[in-house]
Amino acid sequence: MDSFRIQGGRRLAGKIQIEGSKNATLPLMAAALCTDGEITLRNVPCLSDISNMARLLRELGVQVDGESGVMKMRVMDQNKVHAHYDIVKTMRASICVLGPLLARRRRAVIAMPGGCAFGSRPIDLHLRGMQALGAKVELDGGDIIVTAPEGLKGATIFLGGPNGSTVLGTANVMCAAVLAKGRTVIECAACEPEVVDLANLLNAMGARIEGAGGPRLVIHGVESLGSADHVVIPDRIVAGTYAVAAAVTNGNVTLEEFPYDGMLSVIDRFSEIGVHVELLSGADNPMHATVRVTSERKLKPTQITTQPHPGFPTDLQAQFMTLLCLAEGNSMITEKIYPERFMHVAELSRMGAQIYRQGPTCVVAGGAPLHGAPVMASDLRASACLVLAGLAAEGETNVSRIYHLDRGYEKIDAKLKQLGGRISRIQE
Ligand code: EPU
Repeated sequence: MDSFRIQGGRRLAGKIQIEGSKNATLPLMAAALCTDGEITLRNVPCLSDISNMARLLRELGVQVDGESGVMKMRVMDQNKVHAHYDIVKTMRASICVLGPLLARRRRAVIAMPGGCAFGSRPIDLHLRGMQALGAKVELDGGDIIVTAPEGLKGATIFLGGPNGSTVLGTANVMCAAVLAKGRTVIECAACEPEVVDLANLLNAMGARIEGAGGPRLVIHGVESLGSADHVVIPDRIVAGTYAVAAAVTNGNVTLEEFPYDGMLSVIDRFSEIGVHVELLSGADNPMHATVRVTSERKLKPTQITTQPHPGFPTDLQAQFMTLLCLAEGNSMITEKIYPERFMHVAELSRMGAQIYRQGPTCVVAGGAPLHGAPVMASDLRASACLVLAGLAAEGETNVSRIYHLDRGYEKIDAKLKQLGGRISRIQE
């Protein structure tokens, strides 16, 4: 397994461009199952999760050409409906083929995803949505079998759970409802920019979705969908991660294709902490802005609570924990989406961080310097936070199990090197 060796303490400077969003691309790819037409996606990031989704779509009878940059997809065989465990267990986002398969093929068999590094991740809301549209759900041999032999019918669905809305659940119900008979209302829909991107693609294919970006979606079912050509939005989590990299190294970094409009809660926390995100261009096109990130020498502590969009994203919680280790004073981080998503705490502590956890809340006693150490990544965002800690630390850090990073950050080592970071990939 590869690892990263990082020499900390180098100030990052220069310019990089933010890649296309992984979490937008995965459901956009699944939407290709909704049509016989050709779907072209542009700005697709080069990531192992994208290759895994391409593999799954091929198993489901889709011809996929290109796995990064420009990707073209077309359904060749409508008979395959099974997403097997070997792929679902490597990538939970496989669940987003459920809605499209059910809409077009009236049957989907998906291996039940298990838990993951940050706790249980149920799919009950996805299934509740499909049932509301008239589907039958059974569990057999670890597979969920969802069928609607007569087709789906529009319905009014409340899609909220104990932790609020569900992103991929909303994507699934939306994909199923666009081809259902009649009108569907989804209340407590996820408002994430990735859901808006999916609605934009589906509408370009001929769907009639209203309200994307808000909590109530109204979908008028149509008979069939056609071809479309779509540019994937930039990745707000990658953008936030590089902005933290600039801040923890007291750097001066320009980020192009910065999805400013999808990051207002993040920019708000940066400003509280003393990190400046200055808009250089893009006021008229704020999902594709250019910003300069710099920080004050003394960072200030703050409070962060993760929430569904437009609240602070759980996918940046770990990276901000690294940042707050450097702020002078006590910060508080409360995780309301995945209350167990704190695997990085013990690893940061190995580097000298002082973090005290009680249930879903951590107090970060900032101000003590971080020291390089061998650390181990447990999931994608935890890995990113350890790389950031390595950049900020005195001495050498070795981050092992970086295959997690290759799932969600395109060539992160090359991009950090371009900014002057000392990071090298050690192949084993
Ligand atoms: N939930 C339920 N029931 C469900 C589905 C979700 O109770 O049926 C709960 C979850 O346990 C969680 C909350 O609802 O507490 C939100 O989960 P959500 O369904 O929104 O998560 P997801 O759609 O499976 C996507 C991202 C995650 C990101 C979450 C939250 C993709 C491929 N994944 O997952 O991204 O953390 O939304 O924003 O879009 C990552 O990129 O590192 C990552 C984990």
